[in-house]
Amino acid sequence: MRTHYSTAVDDSLIGDTVRVCGWTNTRRDHGGVIFIDLRDEKGLVQLVAAPQQEAIFKTANLVRSECVLVATGTVTARPEGTINDKLASGRVEITLTELSLENHAQALPFLPNDNTSEETRLRHRVIDLRGDTMQHNIRARHKVAQAARQWLNNNDFIEIETPLLTRATPEGARDFLVPSRLQQGEFYALPQSPQLFKQMLVSAGFERYFQIARCFRDEDLRADRQPEFSQIDIEMAFVDEEIVMQLMEEFITTIFTAAGVSLPAPFPRIRWAEAMQRFGSDRPDLRNPLELTELTTAMREEEFKVFRQAAEQTNGRVAALRLPGGATLTRREIDELTAFVAPYGAKGLAYIKCNNIATGDLQSPIVKFLSPAGVTTILEKTNAADGDMLFFGAGAATVVNASLGALRDQLAAMRNLIPENEWKPLWVVDFPLMESDGERWQALHHPFTAAQTDGEPFAVAEAGNVPAGHLATKKDNPAAMLLSRAYDVVLNGSEIGGGSIRIHRVSEQLAVLAALGIDKTEAREKFGFLLSTLESGAPPHGGIAFGLDRIMAMICGATSIREVIAFPKTQRGQCLLTGAPEKVTPQQLRDLGIQKRPAV
Ligand code: AMO
Ligand code: AMP
Repeated sequence: MRTHYSTAVDDSLIGDTVRVCGWTNTRRDHGGVIFIDLRDEKGLVQLVAAPQQEAIFKTANLVRSECVLVATGTVTARPEGTINDKLASGRVEITLTELSLENHAQALPFLPNDNTSEETRLRHRVIDLRGDTMQHNIRARHKVAQAARQWLNNNDFIEIETPLLTRATPEGARDFLVPSRLQQGEFYALPQSPQLFKQMLVSAGFERYFQIARCFRDEDLRADRQPEFSQIDIEMAFVDEEIVMQLMEEFITTIFTAAGVSLPAPFPRIRWAEAMQRFGSDRPDLRNPLELTELTTAMREEEFKVFRQAAEQTNGRVAALRLPGGATLTRREIDELTAFVAPYGAKGLAYIKCNNIATGDLQSPIVKFLSPAGVTTILEKTNAADGDMLFFGAGAATVVNASLGALRDQLAAMRNLIPENEWKPLWVVDFPLMESDGERWQALHHPFTAAQTDGEPFAVAEAGNVPAGHLATKKDNPAAMLLSRAYDVVLNGSEIGGGSIRIHRVSEQLAVLAALGIDKTEAREKFGFLLSTLESGAPPHGGIAFGLDRIMAMICGATSIREVIAFPKTQRGQCLLTGAPEKVTPQQLRDLGIQKRPAV
């Protein structure tokens, strides 16, 4: 319908007739002359209706915010003093000769760009999506997705869709189930990822696969988690981790460049154990200058029970976190930080305020329990200076890492230690293969990830015999952690991608499944299709999946991935726009052979 987009209407067109289409951004009545700012997907242009043209003026009078207009008129120079240089069309306006009110917008609960609650925004998402930020975010997402497709296509990756109605894939979350009408009593699972399909595709001779895949995980939602989300999912045949990491670094830098962000390459690689030791986290924010100091061995001889016991226990840890200049923290702030670490399992938050080290002015609830040599060691190892604050974590390494890792982020946020507009990507490598939950071994990545054992068979201790959080070692060598061939990409403290080299021999796959408590019979029953693939010519292969939503949230500077998804769900898994999930009729349940349990 249009001859021009709003932004194309400029002084080169003065005197010409143009037709523009769009939404009413604002309407102003200036003493008998009506001005309408018409908005289309490119920008704004001003329409003018004078009372002399009665019919047009009458229509213009009816126009309210968000009404849809098709407007024809003559491009006219704006009078001096009314020129708006912020708009591409700001030197001209359109004097209307025809105005069609295509759709009258009712009184709306809010206008695009209004500040309103997220609930209202999600309930009326169509209006919300018209706002500048959402328009920008969704378009940026398109650009990144296109850049991804282009790079992948140029590098011989082909896009293949995989089923959504399928069997459970063990990525560690709960499945969404879909009841089958034709096979009553049976259920499809929505995929947590296309993991097994992509392994089968590369085994089927599609040596480089990709897909922008929708994944479904029924887990507790957070700002960076949605029950359905998108992965840029990639798999390659005949690769090792070096090839995957090199190619994927090029890929990820390319797609960020498309969004105007240049990532510093090469990405540093940090071993998992080092990441935990230095940052207490396997997705460290490297913009944050704070680091943990290891004190476990040094505290073994101390009288102070909290430290000594932690240092003596298997998988125990004592560590410090130094906040330069932190001695200014008040008693109340320290109490708040103690409460902050409690949900991570920390039983307390010991500290030393270094008021004056030379004079021994150390303000602390624990110095009196420590030997003078122990205090000196702590001050030396942490590089403490006057005015610093030292925080301590002692206990199971998992708890110390989780609590001091979170405290590290929290202190950096409190003290504005994170530079803006800085991008710090890294690879985390050499992950442990399996972790105990107290009863069973669980794969840290997923059960199809290869171990760093050169394909040698291995056995691990019975998981029931080791406490939760314990990492698997080879049965005959309890000193050596069993590592996997997995790798994660972390950016500014967020895990944006993860993958691994896969197991491509059936014996090794069965060994891993057995260690995870899945015997041969169960393995055949659950993963028979994968096992027979591994028995029918599976190449060495590996891949990765990037979280597109998380990547977009970072690029757009959004605090939640809901800001980069057109129709997201709430923290409670609801779509406020459509009202999903919803009740179904008794007939629908009967068709599916499902009976509701009577309410108790
Ligand atoms: P993984 O489970 O690590 O790996 O997922 C890959 C990436 O997906 C993103 N992600 C999520 N984003 C939003 N909401 C969620 N609920 C969510 N869960 C995960 C993260 C994560 O890094 N099949 C393997 C990949 C492989 O081995 O190739 C997998 O799914 O950014
Ligand atoms: P308590 O002897 O329990 O009063 O603890 C002395 C100090 O150590 C207090 O400041 C506690 O907050 C701290 N504390 C206690 N348990 C731990 C722990 N597991 N890790 C770190 N600090 C602790």
